[in-house]
Amino acid sequence: MWKSRFHVAPPYGLLNDPNGLIYWKGEYHLFYQWNPNACEHGAKHWAHLRSKDLINWETLPVALSPTDSFDKNGCYSGSAIEKDGEIHLFYTGNVKNNGVRESYQCLATSKDGVNFEKKGPVIHDNDIPKEYTRHFRDPKVFMENETYKMVIGAQRVDLTGTVVVFSSKDLINWTFDKEVINEDFGFMCECPDFITDKKNSALLFSPQGIEADGDLYNNRYQSGYIIRELEEINKNNFIELDRGFEFYAPQTFIDEFHKNVLIGWMGMPEELDHPTIEKENWVHSLTLPRTLEITKNKILQTPHPNLKKLRKEKIQLEGIKIKNSLNLSEFGICGDTYELIIDLKNLDTDFKIDLRVGETEKTTFSYNYEKKKATLNRNHSGAGYTGTRSCSLKELEKIHIFMDKSSVEIFLNDGEEVFTANIYPNKSSLGIEIMTKMLFTIPMIKFFRI
Ligand code: FRU
Repeated sequence: MWKSRFHVAPPYGLLNDPNGLIYWKGEYHLFYQWNPNACEHGAKHWAHLRSKDLINWETLPVALSPTDSFDKNGCYSGSAIEKDGEIHLFYTGNVKNNGVRESYQCLATSKDGVNFEKKGPVIHDNDIPKEYTRHFRDPKVFMENETYKMVIGAQRVDLTGTVVVFSSKDLINWTFDKEVINEDFGFMCECPDFITDKKNSALLFSPQGIEADGDLYNNRYQSGYIIRELEEINKNNFIELDRGFEFYAPQTFIDEFHKNVLIGWMGMPEELDHPTIEKENWVHSLTLPRTLEITKNKILQTPHPNLKKLRKEKIQLEGIKIKNSLNLSEFGICGDTYELIIDLKNLDTDFKIDLRVGETEKTTFSYNYEKKKATLNRNHSGAGYTGTRSCSLKELEKIHIFMDKSSVEIFLNDGEEVFTANIYPNKSSLGIEIMTKMLFTIPMIKFFRI
């Protein structure tokens, strides 16, 4: 009853990071970290899906399995790049011998986009500079100034987190360049990425061990970015990509429209208290694809335009006067799989929307106009984790919600902020209610059943 209708989820077992995202020969390839053996972290495989539109996915054979000496305890996260017409996958071979970790950055290639041939390590465990521990993983490869670069998440020997970069001319021979973060980011930085969009660039990564600070950094681990060039090592203003609850280890790729697109893991390491495990033998899914725009001081994230393909029946309301509360079910607006867009231009009072409303359940997004604060509350959502997450927001002008069977993604003001969360309500909790403190006329509500 909680299996995602339009999010990528595993058939069984555990899914974590999206890997190897690439638009290649007119098709999207998506891989994810998969443990097919149990709903827990274990020997990771690369599950493989293919799509013409980023929406309808076809399952292909598993691309990588942990069967070799250099990856026997897991084919960990990594990325894809095209060279000479072939897909090149770079991933971390995780090895543990008597509890001692080794880390190999490995290559696998494919001519047909279905069968992958492992070529073994290109950065050997012995090549890891002595300044770092074996928490050295998640190669993301890209081209900059005619040189291939690989960013890798790393831990210094003093147990602080950073990101390092290697260079190569041929994707085979790699040399260590330097650290690209000179501050401490917790005890480990996972899944780094680097993107450029016209004039602006951003370094993305998922630091572990940053302490909560008011409304900031409240998830167990964070995922975020610094607006900067790869070389601007002293710029360390870290911004979270998502305000919670489940969002981690995102990866980007360039889509058919030449835009940077991001997909994240809708999950969190070490948090496995999800009711799907016991009831349905699967856990976690990926976020929807988000188109990124890098501005001078922020990354904006909007739902990928191809998601419009999911839209079925449409209900549109205009100029709806509301004071106190309005039950949208009266207009046929309700359900457990939908897209909902509410235009709130000129909002001058507190606003609240309850989703998946049932007799005793509701998931509440609210905006406090005085405090300029947006909050997602899942204390009454049903089964699973509870809690609230908040962020400051100068104005609330628009909310754009994607509701799936066990998740909700809420985009604010065309991607200024995003909240992503798993919720596990009852089947019968389908209501949607809106509340305002003072009289307000909502310019437009658009609802699409999915
Ligand atoms: C992030 C991560 C990566 C690692 C992978 C293993 O969630 O810990 O650093 O490569 O998961 O599944």
